[in-house]
Amino acid sequence: MAFTFFFRDRHTLEHFARLVTQDINNKSEVKIWDAGCAMGQEPYTLLIILAEMLSSDDYKKIKVIATDIDENSLFHSVINSGIYPYDQLSRLPEGILEKYFTKLGEDEYKLSDKILNSLSFTKQDLLELVPIDNHFDGIICKNVLLHFTPQQQIDVLKMYNNSLNNIGYLVTEQTQALPSEVSHKFEKVLSDANIYLKK
Ligand SMILES: C[S@@+](CC[C@H](N)C(=O)[O-])C[C@H]1O[C@@H](n2cnc3c(N)ncnc32)[C@H](O)[C@@H]1O
Repeated sequence: MAFTFFFRDRHTLEHFARLVTQDINNKSEVKIWDAGCAMGQEPYTLLIILAEMLSSDDYKKIKVIATDIDENSLFHSVINSGIYPYDQLSRLPEGILEKYFTKLGEDEYKLSDKILNSLSFTKQDLLELVPIDNHFDGIICKNVLLHFTPQQQIDVLKMYNNSLNNIGYLVTEQTQALPSEVSHKFEKVLSDANIYLKK
């Protein structure tokens, strides 16, 4: 199983959530792609952060498309069910478990429909270089690029650049520096988080 958990790198996701919704009053939809989403822990964390940050009307404008290569075809059913064991949830901030999850059994919690209904999952191999959609306001691709060769990273980052709106944000993991072949296409917007604005 891919290593991850709810509220991993909360700091970066909170900054991203603020940036990607800063113009939400002038929009009917805010569309976000989480590429390499594992079993949904990261995109669902983002949605919980957005639900906490936005009014209900603005939250309804959020649409997250989550994709993963999902090699064993296991992720789809977990993401759709929204059921997770407690060890995935042990780092939730205070009050979030009670507010967004229902306890099903000794070690099982189910995410609320409000969060589940804002996400759709599609199985996808990023290395096929076919974007799942375009005109994204934001793309999250964390702890995925490190599995790719330098040329694959460049190709995938170019695909992200083409798939973003003119004002569109890309998030990568802290350890990921953008290769020089694509770094001119993005501007880093924060010193303490790997969030880039499309140039
Ligand atoms: C370590 S997990 C990262 C999960 C989440 N983004 C995070 O940072 O917590 C890496 C994920 O990348 C996915 N992945 C690896 N190669 C991929 C590819 N070619 N296309 C799409 N997803 C891929 C894996 O299946 C895995 O779920």
